[in-house]
Amino acid sequence: MYDRILTSLSYGMFAVGVRGDDRPNACIVNTVMQISSLPMTIAVSVNHSNYTNELIKKYGEFTVSVLSENTSGSAIGALGYTSGRTNDKLSNVRYTLLREGAPVIREEICCWFFCKVVNTVETVTHTIFIAEPIAGSEKIKGKPMTYDYYRNVIKGKSPKYAPTYYEEKEEAAEKYVCNICKYEYSDTLIPFDELPNDWICPICGAPKSVFTKQG
Ligand SMILES: Cc1cc2nc3c(=O)[nH]c(=O)nc-3n(C[C@H](O)[C@H](O)[C@H](O)COP(=O)(O)O)c2cc1C
Repeated sequence: MYDRILTSLSYGMFAVGVRGDDRPNACIVNTVMQISSLPMTIAVSVNHSNYTNELIKKYGEFTVSVLSENTSGSAIGALGYTSGRTNDKLSNVRYTLLREGAPVIREEICCWFFCKVVNTVETVTHTIFIAEPIAGSEKIKGKPMTYDYYRNVIKGKSPKYAPTYYEEKEEAAEKYVCNICKYEYSDTLIPFDELPNDWICPICGAPKSVFTKQG
């Protein structure tokens, strides 16, 4: 029952970038928060199954790119719905590599910082990485994207390994699901059939033709 209540908690939207063995990797998280200011530390919660978790443990460093309201849904889809274990997730996402090998995402982000892990806390499903920011951008550009904006304006979802994932039990009357990123279209004002043919998935940019009707 508490999962519903916990949806009232507020978060931001971020991409965590990590050095990889063959190629750099990044994933979307909504769980970055500042822990202390002197010394300055932040925390992020990363699921044990995510490749990013393995790479942060291996290299002890990661970047945080703070997404803005102008960051495209397709960049979020590319980094938040597939794993770097099997995909080169950054192949269609703009980024620059730091000297340390970790990527900073360049998709209309507000700012970024680079962190060194100073501590970890294990929970049943997630590792909480506590880290010290040691470098970062000088300026903040645009408006940071909040998790609420992602959910209610972009109409994005949270996949299984996000800490805020919960199974939605209330089914919409008519639902169309994107086969790529699992975004669900169920707008009662504009039926799916009436959307223009060049309409694309607001999360991953896939064409209308990859949507399947549910139920
Ligand atoms: C909006 C959103 C928020 C997410 N938040 C988190 C998070 O805080 N922690 C986490 O471990 N995964 C989170 N995820 C899920 C990961 O981004 C996802 O599992 C990703 O595919 C992991 O990629 P990797 O295996 O390359 O690390 C989130 C995804 C989305 C779309």
